[in-house]
Amino acid sequence: MNRLICISNRVQAANGGASSNRGGLAVALSAALRESNGIWFGWSGEQTDHFTGQISFRRQDGVATATIDLEAQDIEEYYNGFANRTLWPLFHYRLDLTEIARDFAGGYARVNQRFAETVAPLIEPDDMIWVHDYHLMPLGQRLRERGFANRLGFFLHTPWPPASLMMSLPGHRELVKSLLSYDVIGFHTDEWRASFIDYIVTHLGAELDGDHALLDGRSTRLLICPIGLDTAEFTSALGTPAARDAEQRLITSAVGRQVIVGVDRLDYSKGLQERFLAYEQLLATRPELREKLFLLQIAPPSRGDVPSYQQIRAELNALSGGINGEFASIDWVPVRYVNKGYAREELFGIYRASRVGLVTPLRDGMNLVAKEYVAAQDPEDPGVLVLSRFAGASVQLDAALIINPHSSEDMADAIARALTMPLEERRERHAAMLASVVKQDVRWWSARFIAALQPPQPSEDRPR
Ligand code: UDP
Ligand code: G6P
Repeated sequence: MNRLICISNRVQAANGGASSNRGGLAVALSAALRESNGIWFGWSGEQTDHFTGQISFRRQDGVATATIDLEAQDIEEYYNGFANRTLWPLFHYRLDLTEIARDFAGGYARVNQRFAETVAPLIEPDDMIWVHDYHLMPLGQRLRERGFANRLGFFLHTPWPPASLMMSLPGHRELVKSLLSYDVIGFHTDEWRASFIDYIVTHLGAELDGDHALLDGRSTRLLICPIGLDTAEFTSALGTPAARDAEQRLITSAVGRQVIVGVDRLDYSKGLQERFLAYEQLLATRPELREKLFLLQIAPPSRGDVPSYQQIRAELNALSGGINGEFASIDWVPVRYVNKGYAREELFGIYRASRVGLVTPLRDGMNLVAKEYVAAQDPEDPGVLVLSRFAGASVQLDAALIINPHSSEDMADAIARALTMPLEERRERHAAMLASVVKQDVRWWSARFIAALQPPQPSEDRPR
């Protein structure tokens, strides 16, 4: 197989300790790269006084990495700015939080150019290049401009917004058109791909030929490819002392109470306020449940330099404090709200000890926590997943209790139903979800994308 070069904003070992910032992308890419013997290129996460483009090579968690430092202005305008104050909210349907600024767009263009310049010397003619996520959409076009004819793929880990929202971004045409420099674009669900197709057909005049988009003599395959778990890592992690200790500690401290668990980066897309309000509704309307359960919400802070993230943090502090103030007793705290990240082994133990998994994003490209919760359950006595219909994961995990996170009443009803669900129904739902989690795991995902990215066989070549 040709060598794979993955390029993403953040380069991070999946098992690099209990730091707070390990998203689904980091976890999934390590597995894909270990197998392909490839290189993972991206930002080190470090700041330098002046950008030099000097690359640091390392081996992290069995993966060869090549990273560059960015200067303060890059981090502010590209990462905190265009990526996380403009594109992230826009792609999660939050026009109200989307900030439009020319500096941000300029920083985004500059850093994408810098990525192209610095990665270029590492690229061999036969390498396949796989670019990840909204931070680096124009990178493929920058590489094409430098003459690279390699197979280029792009995977979007977030939703793709409806065309009507996309149009509120100045420069939307150039940005979306740049994506058609790739040979393959991957989306988690049909919904995100359909929105993309709607945009390129309506606003760029692209044509469709099966699952290929055709524009200006180029053809781009639009692939639905939902990301999954590293099931091998998962199975071995479940047996570790860290997983067993965390499970035992939670069970002991619960003193017979049912645990409802949420695990999310502290992000407004995750529907955390709505979740707390629904839990408050549950306690307010069903007094018989009080003292019999508690909500454990793990929410490692994320993107703390971005004002909307500072705001949601303050709001959640107030909400959790309010619920505890209103309902707690001398020996019961209804919400255990924890602003720190946990190592994955510990999380698996925590999932296993929890009767209900609450995954209630207002919008989420996939949501790996939902799949992890399912994979961690004891099949003989599994917990119940309550899952937002607006998470990409709800397509595959349709045997969860699917809820509308905008309705506190719906969510409270679903939690109550989960707490009393008969064993037989829990087993049936869990078995259906586990089958899909095991079948469409991260190896399936990367193999599917890489198969689409392979150079065409000689018989498929166009005549020269
Ligand atoms: N995660 C972790 N420690 C934590 C919280 C989350 O390792 O304290 C991991 C979690 O296990 C999952 C990932 O971070 O694999 C989050 O991925 P998801 O797709 O759910 O959301 P994202 O953060 O990418 O939006
Ligand atoms: C999501 C994004 C990833 C990102 C992760 C963590 O999963 O799709 O691209 O790496 O969140 O966010 P951060 O800003 O800390 O990298």
